Amino acid sequence: MELIRSISKMRDWSKSHRERGRKIAFVPTMGYFHDGHLALMKRASELGDKVVVSIFVNPTQFGPTEDFARYPRNLDRDIDLASSVGVDCIFYPEASEMYPEGFDTWVEVPGLAKGLCGASRPGHFRGVTTVVLKLFNIVAPHVAVFGQKDYQQLKIIQKMVRDLNIPIEIVPHPIVREPDGLAMSSRNTYLSAEERKSALCLYKALMRAKELYEGGVTSAKALRQEVEEIIRSTPLTRIDYCFLGSGETLTEEEELGPGSVIALAVWVGKTRLIDNVLL
Ligand code: PAF
Repeated sequence: MELIRSISKMRDWSKSHRERGRKIAFVPTMGYFHDGHLALMKRASELGDKVVVSIFVNPTQFGPTEDFARYPRNLDRDIDLASSVGVDCIFYPEASEMYPEGFDTWVEVPGLAKGLCGASRPGHFRGVTTVVLKLFNIVAPHVAVFGQKDYQQLKIIQKMVRDLNIPIEIVPHPIVREPDGLAMSSRNTYLSAEERKSALCLYKALMRAKELYEGGVTSAKALRQEVEEIIRSTPLTRIDYCFLGSGETLTEEEELGPGSVIALAVWVGKTRLIDNVLL
């Protein structure tokens, strides 16, 4: 497996594989791999002949009071894990090359980025879309895999790709969960033992809502009540948002139906966790 740091070397690598007719599959990440990342990489190796994974804790998608500085990092461990699932290349750029002095071009998908995480993390998605487009331009993959845990991010990237005619296929990957149901996230490492127990309330609440929905309850108000009650009765938690609405336009709906999504962001202690279920 190769570790590439410079943008020009990454471009050369991709160019030479493209010229040999290889299909390049890409998984953009911020590192500190867990089984969710590894599942995306395995999916990528089914989709392409060569797999590139980027590791870049992107400063422009973190707000001034967020966890950029303490976001977990461990390159050596990530290299071992990525090579264990057959990744061909890790792109690990320097922030100074990604964002040189004077950098000032931004990509925005304002409609889809307005609510949910966009409301509580102003500027977050502008940072995500900008860095993802930069990574797409540098890595030049044929296909890229994104996890559905970051559901809003996935929809925004799909829209950016459509709107800007980016010749890359976006492949969603289902949420990968711990055995008890907690969605895997690098941020789970922040949780204390007590908080880890409380963190399960996101999954429990979503599963309860799905069960009610499948039993015929489609009223967003009724489902919201149930979800919020489960979370409020769990110690150490505070709801950031509970969204029930269209999985395409990310606008609220009064009656849920096929294609609706229930998405949650919940503070557990000082850690903000997200999860969702597609109906
Ligand atoms: O989902 C993530 O880890 C990040 O938002 C991404 C897509 C790698 C962009 O920095």
